[in-house]
Amino acid sequence: MCGIVGYIGDGNVYDVLVKGLHRLEYRGYDSAGIALVAPDGRLNLYKAKGKVSNLEDYCRDKDLRAKAGIAHTRWATHGEPSDSNAHPHFSQDGRIALVHNGTIENYKLLKDALKQHGCTFHSETDTEVLVQLIEYIKINNDCSLLDAVREALKQVVGAYAIAVIERDHPDTIIAARKSSPLVIGIGDKETFLASDATPIVEYTKNVVYLKDGEVAVIKRDEPLKLVDLENKDCDIDIRTLEMSISQLEKGGYPHFMLKEIFEQPNTLRDCIRGRVVDDGKRILINGILDNKEKFLNAKRIVIVACGTSWHAGLLGKYLLQDMTRIPVEVEYASEFRYSNPVLDDRDIVIAISQSGETADTLAAVEIARKQGAFVYGVSNVVGSSIPRETDSGTYIHVGPEIGVASTKAFTGQVMVLTMLAAAIGQLRGTLAPEQVAELGKYIIRIPDLVTKVLGLAPQIEHLSLIYTYARNFLYLGRGYSYPVALEGALKLKEISYIHAEGYPAAEMKHGPIAIIDAEMPSVIIAPNDHLYEKIVNNVQQVKSREGSIIAIVTEGDKEIRELADHVLEVPAVPECLTPIITSIPLQLLSYYIAINKRKNVDMPRNLAKSVTVE
Ligand code: F6R
Repeated sequence: MCGIVGYIGDGNVYDVLVKGLHRLEYRGYDSAGIALVAPDGRLNLYKAKGKVSNLEDYCRDKDLRAKAGIAHTRWATHGEPSDSNAHPHFSQDGRIALVHNGTIENYKLLKDALKQHGCTFHSETDTEVLVQLIEYIKINNDCSLLDAVREALKQVVGAYAIAVIERDHPDTIIAARKSSPLVIGIGDKETFLASDATPIVEYTKNVVYLKDGEVAVIKRDEPLKLVDLENKDCDIDIRTLEMSISQLEKGGYPHFMLKEIFEQPNTLRDCIRGRVVDDGKRILINGILDNKEKFLNAKRIVIVACGTSWHAGLLGKYLLQDMTRIPVEVEYASEFRYSNPVLDDRDIVIAISQSGETADTLAAVEIARKQGAFVYGVSNVVGSSIPRETDSGTYIHVGPEIGVASTKAFTGQVMVLTMLAAAIGQLRGTLAPEQVAELGKYIIRIPDLVTKVLGLAPQIEHLSLIYTYARNFLYLGRGYSYPVALEGALKLKEISYIHAEGYPAAEMKHGPIAIIDAEMPSVIIAPNDHLYEKIVNNVQQVKSREGSIIAIVTEGDKEIRELADHVLEVPAVPECLTPIITSIPLQLLSYYIAINKRKNVDMPRNLAKSVTVE
């Protein structure tokens, strides 16, 4: 949700900022803007509605010389996408500019108070209040920008990552965070800041992840300084980035989404590495080994997540219950946080989040910790908030996911949950060593089997042409294939804008069967598992109502082949590993349908990758 970038140094400020905005565009693309402090002391502000490329077009004939600057790409919350609502926002006198990611919850109150003091507002955003408040405090107290920012932030309720720049002090940027991410990159006589490390990695690997309540003072010729809101010095913990620049490029693919789908053999290899050992006989998950007592004594597991991560969580329930016999509940983090949850110290809460920044999931983590539960994170982005706020956790290690529709993160999450379930089962003795070894043997083979599934791409591309103009889709599955059906439907909806519903196949006869006719394709996920015969019945029920059927089946399948209009065959794997294998054809189907419809698959309308607002 919104991306911010800042830079001070001798490099080309405009280029660094715009390149950074492109990297952060997955966080929002409703408008973009930039504030540059020119060598002649002017503060130039350029904004454009829409994508970063619109801002670049707008800037072509502008004065882009600069000593420092800040920039923003927006996902609209308060106020429609428009030039006036685009960041940066300016103080009354035009001397201070500010960019913000987050939400100022008490902005109306602050706005009314500032209006009474004669402030005029030029946008409908919550953000503008902050810059006006900073100016008001600065003028009335005759203080520095740092002091004004600190004092203003004390009055703010809500979430923020901000960067502020002042015309009269072109060699300083002040930045701060609370609940929204901010990373500072320390280069050789240059400093960067951004919502995540992707705009920074090509310049420096040395980064500082700002903590909640910290304010950074970034000066051209001085070392970075961090203080808290009371102006007390904070420690600076410089970390080394593990990311590489090639992970942030399309690598010859037309879209990030397709690249990320095809990366899955490698991302799954990275996810498994060092965790399935002795030729598969043992599963080693440090977060579990370090907290054995917690997992041995657990009486319940509650999984919290949103969107695709919630679908992975639902699979986590099947996996954990099967392998550990601990009861598992799966909650949407956005509901859990307001459900007055009842937890205690024998509960384990697993928070799943690719970005590690989803506001609802983060809030669920806080609630769970307050109630004494042991909180375990499953995240992708190293150093993000959820891994920092949880008691322990496991990274999925699939590398940066840029496409807004999650693909490789989903399979990485499911793989981590499979290994977690097996490791806990191993620890509690609910899985026999031979069962672990049998599973481990297959886990090691999964990346190669995924390569084989990706070989279906031409067949799926062809199939997509037949269904591009369908107006509705039904996705059906049972057991482990039910969350896959939900995920398949979500993928199609979000990038092709076709209405799609995922349903437990057996529930269909309790209502949805009424909508099946010749116009309604059903995608049925039917690998050869213990519910296979049951789903054959469901396929027959669809068929007898003239619905067309695309079925994902196990190689060699005979029964469903007879009934379905199209079959996509995937390799045989143990039941608990089928979701990783069967979800991939669905990712490809949604990709090709969206491409046929000429949709922007990497940046679908109204969406942003990292949802850091409620
Ligand atoms: C869908 C998608 C979203 C995210 C959701 C949670 O393709 O990407 O549904 O899964 O916004 O995001 P994270 O996993 O970052 O918490």
